[in-house]
Amino acid sequence: MTADPTYRGIALDAATALALLEWQAEMGVDEPMLDAPVDRFDLAARLKPVAPIQPLQMEPAAQAPALLPGLPDDTAARIAEAEALAAAADSLDSLAAAQEAFDGIELKKGARNFCFADGNPKARVLILGEAPGDEEDRQGRPFVGRAGQFLDLMFGAIGLSRTATDAEKALYIVNVLSWRPPGNRDPDADEISVSMPFVRRHVELAGPDLIVLMGNTPCQAALGRRGILRLRGQWTQAFGRPALPMTHPAYLLRNPPAKREAWADLLSLADRLESLSV
Ligand code: URA
Repeated sequence: MTADPTYRGIALDAATALALLEWQAEMGVDEPMLDAPVDRFDLAARLKPVAPIQPLQMEPAAQAPALLPGLPDDTAARIAEAEALAAAADSLDSLAAAQEAFDGIELKKGARNFCFADGNPKARVLILGEAPGDEEDRQGRPFVGRAGQFLDLMFGAIGLSRTATDAEKALYIVNVLSWRPPGNRDPDADEISVSMPFVRRHVELAGPDLIVLMGNTPCQAALGRRGILRLRGQWTQAFGRPALPMTHPAYLLRNPPAKREAWADLLSLADRLESLSV
């Protein structure tokens, strides 16, 4: 008797294969994109050598957010305080404690819970999202609402999960903001600028191989660029690591046809992970 084949640790028995097929159809993968099937088990060999990653052009705002016109007078001082606290943290636990205690961000006053991270900090893939919503604010964990459930489905389709203990198959999830903006409004420039020292240190301490920039706010914060529908799928560098902008799961839930491109981005992520492993 032969064992069921596996793909990235998922046993491809008939029921799993059918579930994956149904999920792909739900994601909009309903027609072949290539003339011939791709042997994904042979990808690592085909991908060598890996094409160099082209950094996107950085805009000055990303490098010096404190100098943006219109920010409050004390923004630079609060950024400096955040930088000092973040630099002094030598572990994720101490970073979380320092960031939670930091009073330089007004949002803290209106939020119910601090949302530091979720998943496995040893994961090879770090997802950087925007900010907690209502459910995240209740639970104190990022991406646990409807968009988060969809995010779990998306990444589960390439064998990655926030609950995985194996770093190869795990996800680590962080937001640009750790406190909920009232009414789920977009984070403003001051909030992003003051949060970024903590985010940079967070990425440094977690040390992922790859970063997913989930939507416009993380692209603005890390690359100084917005326009996720143009940026998505283009590998770049953020925090000194390969980074892939992707459309946010909340956007995909509102715009199902965009799931097709998101699926292509997930496959690109799986390919890059595979090529970095060999
Ligand atoms: N959207 C995000 O970007 N992050 C969350 O934690 C929840 C929704």
